[in-house]
Amino acid sequence: MKPLQFRNKWVLVTGASSGLGREMARLLALEHKANLILSARRRDKLEELKAELSGSGVEINIKVADLSIPAEADRLMEECLSEQSLYGAILNAGVTYFGRQTELDWQKFENILHTNVISVVRMTNRLVSHFEQTGEEGALMVVASMAAFYPVPYQAAYSGTKGFILNFITALSHELQNKKLSLTVYAPAGIATEMTGGEKFDSLKGWLMPVDQAAREGLSAFRTRKYTYIPGILNRLGSVFMRFLPAKFLAGRMGKVYREALLRSETRH
Ligand SMILES: NC(=O)c1ccc[n+]([C@@H]2O[C@H](COP(=O)([O-])OP(=O)(O)OC[C@H]3O[C@@H](n4cnc5c(N)ncnc54)[C@H](OP(=O)(O)O)[C@@H]3O)[C@@H](O)[C@H]2O)c1
Repeated sequence: MKPLQFRNKWVLVTGASSGLGREMARLLALEHKANLILSARRRDKLEELKAELSGSGVEINIKVADLSIPAEADRLMEECLSEQSLYGAILNAGVTYFGRQTELDWQKFENILHTNVISVVRMTNRLVSHFEQTGEEGALMVVASMAAFYPVPYQAAYSGTKGFILNFITALSHELQNKKLSLTVYAPAGIATEMTGGEKFDSLKGWLMPVDQAAREGLSAFRTRKYTYIPGILNRLGSVFMRFLPAKFLAGRMGKVYREALLRSETRH
């Protein structure tokens, strides 16, 4: 498949108000001259980004949507597909919970499930159906996490949602009839963003990848239509090495690191 050419094409980025989504949107506008549909809940942040990119010669539309509500995901898709000729979508919005699963209340869990899974599935279904019907060239990238490949204690719900996404998108990509449509799963390890900005992550901050690097590698994976992609050479090597280790051992090590980080943040209070 030929790499994507974004110039003058419309690309949707969800979760564009901060972190990885905002950086990928910046690169799409500034370096690839893509027209953007920026989506998130915080309109002010989206407006700030739009203003920042206003001199880049691209068109920018803002769509406020709360993706913890599946009907909002449906509305976002309908508006994107009816108002523009969509070329690509990066489904990046996501939330985590770092702590003991027994302390995660049900409503918060449902919020994670709806944002990370249900809305992603609904938007993916709609987009894939659209491209299958039209036969147009296009691409979809869904942001999962390395936590999709390995169980992550103390982020059990999050790691479960990302594992779902990895299996769902990679399986679905083998059902496509439209050979000009690609599906990519992007799976970063820790990134320095709002998500990891809280003090529970304090002792893990040394591990985090700068967000501009994660965005650049993500966009490259999207553009070149990778199947799955993990940014960072050490993360990629690590993921190969970890395939030879039992999941129970890996999750045990990971659990120890996260438990200690959690305890450290708790003893500070
Ligand atoms: N940071 C990491 O260590 C890391 C590692 C691997 C994968 N990831 C994944 O990378 C993606 C981006 O995360 P990030 O690190 O950039 O975190 P972030 O800075 O917290 O950004 C999350 C984005 O998702 C949006 N969002 C959250 N809940 C939403 C909702 N209910 N409806 C609509 N938008 C919502 C937020 O916008 P509003 O608040 O304005 O709605 C924000 O723009 C996520 O899928 C995350 O799981 C992150």
